[in-house]
Amino acid sequence: MQPSDVEGDLSRVLHTETEIADRIGDLCRRIEADEPADGDGRPLLLVGVLKGAVMVMADLARELRIPVEMDWMAVSSYGSSTRSSGVVRILKDLDTELDGRRVLIVEDIIDSGLTLSWLVANLRSRGPASVEVCALLRKPEAQRLAVDVKYSGFDIPNEFVVGYGLDYAERYRNLRAIAVLAPHVYT
Ligand code: PRP
Repeated sequence: MQPSDVEGDLSRVLHTETEIADRIGDLCRRIEADEPADGDGRPLLLVGVLKGAVMVMADLARELRIPVEMDWMAVSSYGSSTRSSGVVRILKDLDTELDGRRVLIVEDIIDSGLTLSWLVANLRSRGPASVEVCALLRKPEAQRLAVDVKYSGFDIPNEFVVGYGLDYAERYRNLRAIAVLAPHVYT
């Protein structure tokens, strides 16, 4: 779906499909360059966080010129105040053992940082060789917890953004661009 298909619902486009593809290419070149030269015989394990990371995971994985494995987690915050609590519940865990693995968490967005800081700590407790983070979007003004993000795509303003995996009420995930949702849609 293109921004023009839901034009009345969007305030403005922040990043076009082309800009996103270019930035994912940049991130992939950096990830490839950081691969251990001698290799350790096991491919990098990409861990996508459902559902928002589906698009970035699909494009990042295909753009990478190195072998990778892919696995998925689904998490949700406890209680109705959701992410303000910072307490996260695993809805779907990894199928992969992390012992000795190099892990790259792939996220669409870091908002408060609570999900990711919990996830990094959780995965690090499973004995991996390393856990790094790749996030396409960051909202520096909203971030409450510092997360060490090795590969970051775009810093965006603290506004309601949708598209490229990001939803409002499960809609707009299939928008090819990243856009600010018009307030009349959610007020
Ligand atoms: C979004 C996003 C991150 C999280 C970031 O997921 O995909 O996982 O919020 O927010 P935080 O930095 O404040 O913790 P969401 O809970 O909206 O679920 P979804 O991916 O299924 O849309």
